[in-house]
Amino acid sequence: MTDRNSLRVPPMRGPPNSSSRKPLLETSLSAPGAGPRRQKIGLKPGHSAMDWAQLKQNKGNALKGNIDPSHFPLRVTKEELKRHNSRDDCWVALNRKVYNISPYLDFHPGGVDILMKCAGKDGTLLFQKYHHWVNADRILDSCWVGIMV
Ligand code: HEM
Repeated sequence: MTDRNSLRVPPMRGPPNSSSRKPLLETSLSAPGAGPRRQKIGLKPGHSAMDWAQLKQNKGNALKGNIDPSHFPLRVTKEELKRHNSRDDCWVALNRKVYNISPYLDFHPGGVDILMKCAGKDGTLLFQKYHHWVNADRILDSCWVGIMV
């Protein structure tokens, strides 16, 4: 015989976007032991992932910044990396590849400030800590300037 309770559908607590529901990030990702606290910031209008893809398509290698194309990929020392530590001239090393992330800063879903912590540095560990599933190599393909030596 069928158990009537097994056929019951749990009552809806309101529409999926109802304000009574806690956002997923607050409930699970910020929970103790759930990894680093992840904070969503509001991106400026025109700075979605789609807009970034469009910008890459339009600007291509111009997103590498002011580097001599005949020297690409640059061989970057730690000292050289350190010099590129401002918003307008911001390089980050990820897994030994160096990217000019100045054009990407305003598109970063985690915000500019947290990204600037890696300005002129190796950001591999922080990157892994916050979102190992993100494919930086693909997102930043047009921003690749060189390799660490
Ligand atoms: C430089 C290369 C980086 C790229 C291409 C990148 C890209 C992204 C992307 C695509 C997301 C959205 C992920 C998602 O919704 O699942 C994100 C979120 C985030 N990123 Fe990054 N990121 C970079 C570096 C970093 C670094 C170095 C940090 C920390 C110092 C960081 C901190 C965060 C945080 C806190 C979020 C959370 C926002 C949220 O909860 O959705 N990111 N990043």
